[in-house]
Amino acid sequence: MSSRRNFVKQTALAGASLSILPNLSFGSMKGTSNKKLKLAFIGIGQRGIMHLNNAINREDVEVTAICDVDPERINIGLKMMLDYELTKPKVFGNSDSDYRNLLELKDVDAVIISTPWLWHTKMAVDSMKAGKYTGLEVSAANTMEECWDLVNTHEETGSHLMILENVNYRRDVLAVLNMVKQNVFGELVHFRCGYQHDLRVVKFNNGKQPYGGGVEFGDKGYSEAKWRTQHSLLRNADVYPTHGVGPIATMCDINRGNRFMSLTSHATKGIGLNNYIVEQGGKDHPNAKLKFKQGDVITSTIETSNGETIIVTHDCNLPRPYSLGFRVQGANGLWEVDGNRIYIEGKSKPHQWDESDEWLKKYDHPLWQKYGELATGAGHGGMDFFVLNAFVESAKDNIAPPLDVYDAAAWSSITPLSEASIENNGEPQDFPDFTRGNWVKRQPYNWMKDSY
Ligand SMILES: NC(=O)c1ccc[n+]([C@@H]2O[C@H](COP(=O)([O-])OP(=O)(O)OC[C@H]3O[C@@H](n4cnc5c(N)ncnc54)[C@H](O)[C@@H]3O)[C@@H](O)[C@H]2O)c1
Repeated sequence: MSSRRNFVKQTALAGASLSILPNLSFGSMKGTSNKKLKLAFIGIGQRGIMHLNNAINREDVEVTAICDVDPERINIGLKMMLDYELTKPKVFGNSDSDYRNLLELKDVDAVIISTPWLWHTKMAVDSMKAGKYTGLEVSAANTMEECWDLVNTHEETGSHLMILENVNYRRDVLAVLNMVKQNVFGELVHFRCGYQHDLRVVKFNNGKQPYGGGVEFGDKGYSEAKWRTQHSLLRNADVYPTHGVGPIATMCDINRGNRFMSLTSHATKGIGLNNYIVEQGGKDHPNAKLKFKQGDVITSTIETSNGETIIVTHDCNLPRPYSLGFRVQGANGLWEVDGNRIYIEGKSKPHQWDESDEWLKKYDHPLWQKYGELATGAGHGGMDFFVLNAFVESAKDNIAPPLDVYDAAAWSSITPLSEASIENNGEPQDFPDFTRGNWVKRQPYNWMKDSY
């Protein structure tokens, strides 16, 4: 048994913090080739540390450098690697631009960027220019110009970028993708999805309790409250579209024979964050005077060139249970995640829903059948294992990733387009064609293999 596995076993027995440790080591995960990827991390906050933890559990990855401007995060990362008896990586983070020194290292093949949104495109562009295989957290870009920067840099440098959309690898999502590819729903017609997650405690996280409870953000905030809340203050837009739209885009082959054509967006009033501040901090708290620009529920309708519609919702400022609200509907039937139900004409009783479970089990994706047990401890119900696996395997062979720079640009462009539509009373906004016409001949990615 490797020392890493021993460590996991020992710490599990000692009841060590499971929030950053896997329940199950996948140290035997060697991947499809014997190559070893030299991997670096920029940003090891709440998200980056999860990727780091999953990466050091792989035999085919050597973490050679880490970068974070917060020394506390560096200490957490170093301790994690030391506990796993791994070689100490080179450390960066003395300034906001120190990541550029990391990018100059010869012993870095690939980089995972998990920083606040406004850093994403800058860092990814620099990383591609430095010749590194680049993994970028979601969303990839904030403006239309940034979407183009990613595409242009990829095309100029030949460096690959993968958008690290983990929801594309959720077990139910991949089973439904399998059903789509096997034509169980028939010709596709309509989709719904979105990010519907009560983030009030995340947006006002003072760091004093494990997860929020305060009414502070910006300099007084912790983790995402340091930067995410500011977007809600100043932008009336769907600022986080990819968890919902990523899986749907894959099902209907966006940028590969199909494409997003136009979008209309509408926003409700924004009262949720203000109510929260008043409830938690009192009406005299200085933040209670703030007027948040972001509507509480933002609804965008996308039209595709194949004649489908996709309704995308952003709903993060009101009390509600989590749901990505998926619905996949074709000529023969549909799946709805809320209610856990499927109806297939000729198979289901007429006009009656089936519970999804049997269907999802029957169409369990080959990836989950093969790696499901290994993946279970990797975070977010296992999907984090698969997104990292796809990144590492693609980077080892320096081939185009399954979720590429054109996907990153098209999905992320929903943010500026929704903002423009809301600003103009729901006026339709055209999507740029980031593939420059090549969507017509780009072949769908083969999602049905069991490798990655
Ligand atoms: N896919 C998912 O499930 C998922 C989940 C959570 C977050 N995310 C995404 O991951 C990203 C990071 O989110 P998070 O929750 O980890 O936020 P976080 O604030 O906890 O972490 C961001 C880290 O980046 C560091 N940083 C900031 N500027 C830097 C710079 N110039 N150089 C180096 N380091 C810098 C910060 O010190 C911090 O440690 C965001 O894009 C977020 O949307 C994705």
